[in-house]
Amino acid sequence: MQRRTFLRAATGLAALKADSINRARAAAPSVNDRTPEQAARDEDFWREIQQAFTVDRNIINLNNGGVCPSPKVVQDAMRRQLEFSNVAPAYTMWTVLEPEIESVRARLAASFGCDPEEMAITRNASEALEIAQLGIDLKPGDEVLTTDQDYPRMITTWQQRERRDSIKLKMISFPTPPPSMDDLYQRFERAITPRTRVIHFCHITNLTGQIFPVKKICQMARSRGIEAIVDGAHAYAQFPFKHEDLDCDYYGTSLHKWLLAPHGTGFLYVRKSKIEKLWPMMAAPASMNANIRKFEEIGT
Ligand SMILES: Cc1ncc(COP(=O)(O)O)c(C=O)c1O
Repeated sequence: MQRRTFLRAATGLAALKADSINRARAAAPSVNDRTPEQAARDEDFWREIQQAFTVDRNIINLNNGGVCPSPKVVQDAMRRQLEFSNVAPAYTMWTVLEPEIESVRARLAASFGCDPEEMAITRNASEALEIAQLGIDLKPGDEVLTTDQDYPRMITTWQQRERRDSIKLKMISFPTPPPSMDDLYQRFERAITPRTRVIHFCHITNLTGQIFPVKKICQMARSRGIEAIVDGAHAYAQFPFKHEDLDCDYYGTSLHKWLLAPHGTGFLYVRKSKIEKLWPMMAAPASMNANIRKFEEIGT
């Protein structure tokens, strides 16, 4: 989903009739037929969008990727839910609000193009990816392949497994920009050995915005019995795609980046056939082994 599409979708929520959002909705069609460059220069359009946010106009913030300001309508909803939660927490949080996670799961799954039973809601991309990274059974000597431009926390996670489980992390390098998508693909292919068990890479890197040929790498990995984890922190909702365009086994992303969802939200996609063997980061009962909700057993 693109920002423009998101703004239109967000403004379609009947319950959220804030004037600021109505103004953004009214402005959105004016850039429909224009190039991003033309839209970027239209100060009248951006003034209308600005009204949907509460950002400090004294600061020029160029990092909306790491964490995005939530639109006012999202902040209002969070405040409303927080107040409602505190009315009678054991009832309002557990009995009323918690079951509503299922409608969020269904809508996120529809947007990503997967079965809701493959969609776990997490607190961010770090948690989603670490569930996959720490939850796959690996033996000493097993190899994990990633790049030296992957996200530092995700590399740290594999390095901790190196110390703890004696696995081996191999990091490939690539020039920026790379000569071609095929060149990126071949760098992974060349680095595979008989001990490679996992390939972990970014859909789009945070450092340079390099996009990877995700589907080609994932399908090559699968044909060799290697699992593919894709870090989608900067891809989801920045440009349109569905799971079928990626064909990965695991996909982790934050929702507080390009989707402009509340801070502290993310999702983990796990291919259905992989759920049972993936350990949750926080313990869940054996009866939940094949249940995607085992990754959400984090307490209150
Ligand atoms: C590529 C990449 N992966 C993972 C993350 C972690 O995201 P979060 O801090 O929302 O968990 C980030 C954060 O910017 C990122 O850029």
